Amino acid sequence: MMRVFSGIQPTGALHLGNHLGAIVAWKELQAIAECTFCIVDWHAITVFQDPEALRQSVLMTAATYLACGLDPQRVTIYPQSAVPQHAELAWLLSCHTPMGWLNRMTQFKDKAGKHKDQAVLGLYAYPVLMAADIVLFGATHVPVGEDQKQHLELARDIAAAVNRAYGKDLLVIPEPMVSKVAPRIMSLRDGTKKMSKSDPSEASRIHLTDDDDTIAQKIRRAKTDSDALPSDIAGLDNRPEAKNLLTILSVLENRALPDTLQSYAGQTFSVLKDDLTQVLITHIAPIRQGIHERLSDPQALKSLLAQHASKCIEKAESTMGLMRESFGFLKLS
Ligand code: TYM
Repeated sequence: MMRVFSGIQPTGALHLGNHLGAIVAWKELQAIAECTFCIVDWHAITVFQDPEALRQSVLMTAATYLACGLDPQRVTIYPQSAVPQHAELAWLLSCHTPMGWLNRMTQFKDKAGKHKDQAVLGLYAYPVLMAADIVLFGATHVPVGEDQKQHLELARDIAAAVNRAYGKDLLVIPEPMVSKVAPRIMSLRDGTKKMSKSDPSEASRIHLTDDDDTIAQKIRRAKTDSDALPSDIAGLDNRPEAKNLLTILSVLENRALPDTLQSYAGQTFSVLKDDLTQVLITHIAPIRQGIHERLSDPQALKSLLAQHASKCIEKAESTMGLMRESFGFLKLS
């Protein structure tokens, strides 16, 4: 049985990159695997979060998971902070993680920038918490966007190091599953940067909560170049914006990219943008509506999360029982 685990940081509304790079695959996997999808609020606080906004974002993320079609009868959805075993396991793993491995993490280098000494320990140690998230439930597969691949390779290395140290297969070594069609959706303002929640420009991303006019405006303003659209993949070289818009359209229409390229060969960007706008609106409107409906009953959302979290605590305790014994902690009763 495939056991799937993944998560998203609750820092405001989710965007098209989160949706196409991760949630679309999650939705498919729920039919064939045992799936756990976490709302990783402990990861979110590696950058300061307003407490009230964080609480609201957790509910919004839960509402978004459901509105995107994750079925709470099939999958487990819970906030990380409701299952303290994540933190306990992260500590145990951190004692098997050489700093040299963490020093290689490009996301830390990007986020900490030139001010490494001022960067908080949590931001540096974050990939260890991510490894703990994954191995806590014995995940065999982890569906993520390409930006998380390095963290997943680290998770594999850490799990293997623990297994070596204690001489047994204590932890499952997880396989990354990076979306083939949408590994990296790019910013609408700069096709060389990934679409990201931390980009200061709202126009760089489409949120799953954007209304029709906002979607249309963001696509209208999306960066382009001045050439007509090419007919084949080779023609997309050095044209990151064209590649990104055509990729988004292909994924939403469930077509192969070369097919979509054929349809737009020789056309202007404005033809592509009109069609993309329509497709995006049709795709996002029901998700947006589903998010608002679910957010109108926060109590129902909270009780769903509570039920799912208590299942997770049970599973987590079974992993931790084995870990505590294997590491040599004295059992007092
Ligand atoms: P986060 O919250 O940054 O992103 C959530 C998911 O969305 C994917 N993603 C993208 N995919 C394609 N194009 C993009 N522009 C794009 N932007 C984001 C991410 O790859 C991710 O799959 N550390 C993780 C969360 C996490 C996690 C985990 C994931 C914590 N613990 C355990 C898997 C397993 C993160 O910050 O994702």
